[in-house]
Amino acid sequence: MTKRITLLPGDGIGPEVIESAVKVLKYVAEKFSVEFELVERPIGGISYDKYGTPLTDETLQTCYDSDAVLLGAVGGYKWENLEHHLKPEAALLKLRKSLGLFANIRPAKVFSSLVDASSLKKEVVEGTDFVVFRELTGGIYFGEPRGINTEKAWNTMVYSKNEIERIAKMAFETAIKRKGIVTSVDKANVLEVSQFWRKVVESVSKEYPTVRLKNMYVDNAAMQIVKDPKQFDVILTSNLFGDILSDIAGMITGSLGMLPSASIGTKYALYEPVHGSAPDIAGQNIANPIAAISSVAMMLEYSFDMYKASELIIEAINRTLEEGYRTADIGTEGSKIVSTKEITSVILTKFEEIYNEQALGVFTL
Ligand code: IPM
Ligand code: MN
Repeated sequence: MTKRITLLPGDGIGPEVIESAVKVLKYVAEKFSVEFELVERPIGGISYDKYGTPLTDETLQTCYDSDAVLLGAVGGYKWENLEHHLKPEAALLKLRKSLGLFANIRPAKVFSSLVDASSLKKEVVEGTDFVVFRELTGGIYFGEPRGINTEKAWNTMVYSKNEIERIAKMAFETAIKRKGIVTSVDKANVLEVSQFWRKVVESVSKEYPTVRLKNMYVDNAAMQIVKDPKQFDVILTSNLFGDILSDIAGMITGSLGMLPSASIGTKYALYEPVHGSAPDIAGQNIANPIAAISSVAMMLEYSFDMYKASELIIEAINRTLEEGYRTADIGTEGSKIVSTKEITSVILTKFEEIYNEQALGVFTL
């Protein structure tokens, strides 16, 4: 089996964390009967600097020609004042839209060894395990009309029935395999678009009688995630609300440096860490590569049906953390603070260890 993967390292810490992720991919290829053909392309600020655009046609075409895309991060202070369509972030939005990646899946799971790294009390976060389904190609991010002049500026939050239905279905399907609860987050007490969202989600829910649907206003949801994150299983929400809630969800798990994401459509899939390009720590070999490595695990699961290899990666991360290895962002008292490269090699060692235990039948996934 040969799989083509487009690598888009991007800006800031992107290249460093992708380098770690690639090491893991190569290891997987060595151990499992799969070949990965890796093609690297520029995106974001570095692409703008070289080609005058954050997303070249060639980069986009390479993505169309691949089985999956792995992205690092885009953006940085240097490009903040560019025109809207030239900003590094515009590349990501165009990529999502062009590849039709309407479902953004962001798991928020607290590793038990990391409960002390959370800004919340241990009792509150311990055992948290939910996943955010964020609509990614619609809503206020893409709605027309939009514009700005010297007197005013405007954006439009718009959703069609089809756009809501397809992501709602994915969320309900996932809930069946989990704890069976979907919390749909909206602002139906104020916005028509949210009233419509709620109506469509309620009608989709009728096809899933074993799943419990709860509706929640976004302001309350933000508060509830911090107050009692364990109540959530699957959060289903729109583009903007999902952007905000997934950062909150990320932080309660210890660090945004831990969280992977998958953006999926009917034909293409893109995997990327939830964290940004962190220009302040770029190039210092201190960034946390775990989100990027976990994104590889998600790719193996969602795009290639390689469940075993995926679980092996997660277990390797788990053991690494359990033995006290940490990058600076998740460092707690008594932990061993190591570099990006060091934690990657510990993860690879653990991967090898688990792989061998499996072969001997000592450990089963
Ligand atoms: C994210 C980011 C992006 C978003 C930016 C970089 C455009 O914050 O992936 O969450 O707002 O979707
Ligand atoms: Mn965001």
